[in-house]
Amino acid sequence: MPNSSQSIEDYLERIYELIQEKGYARAVDIAGALSIRQSSVTKMIKNLDEKGYVVYEKYRGLTLTPKGAHLARSVRNRHGTLEKLLRLLGVAETILQRDVEGIEHHISPKALRAIGQLVTFLDMHPEFLRAFKRARRGQER
Ligand code: CO
Repeated sequence: MPNSSQSIEDYLERIYELIQEKGYARAVDIAGALSIRQSSVTKMIKNLDEKGYVVYEKYRGLTLTPKGAHLARSVRNRHGTLEKLLRLLGVAETILQRDVEGIEHHISPKALRAIGQLVTFLDMHPEFLRAFKRARRGQER
């Protein structure tokens, strides 16, 4: 069972993505995206509303408060940085997404910043990435 701050982050991340994609987020869509029963989603939405992350109105659905949007964006940024690193390392897409969903909740701001800097560095100097990939093939032999 994931701890509650982890699931708050997962919910806000999915709600943010749904609003970006479709313009709205309904309990049924969130349940689908997270593979969770709709009754649990409804309970969580109430919790998120009480904590000031979302505003839930029965007929208009769900919107993120500025506080909710801020946290959701920081989870998305973390996700994006980790995704870039694992992709640069050649990790397969299916494994990559699952790994990122796990790591993103546990990584410290300092480690994330360092990873972001590494990704930027490798983007700017692809020759280093190529050299690393060659060395790796050598190690695997
Ligand atoms: Co994520």
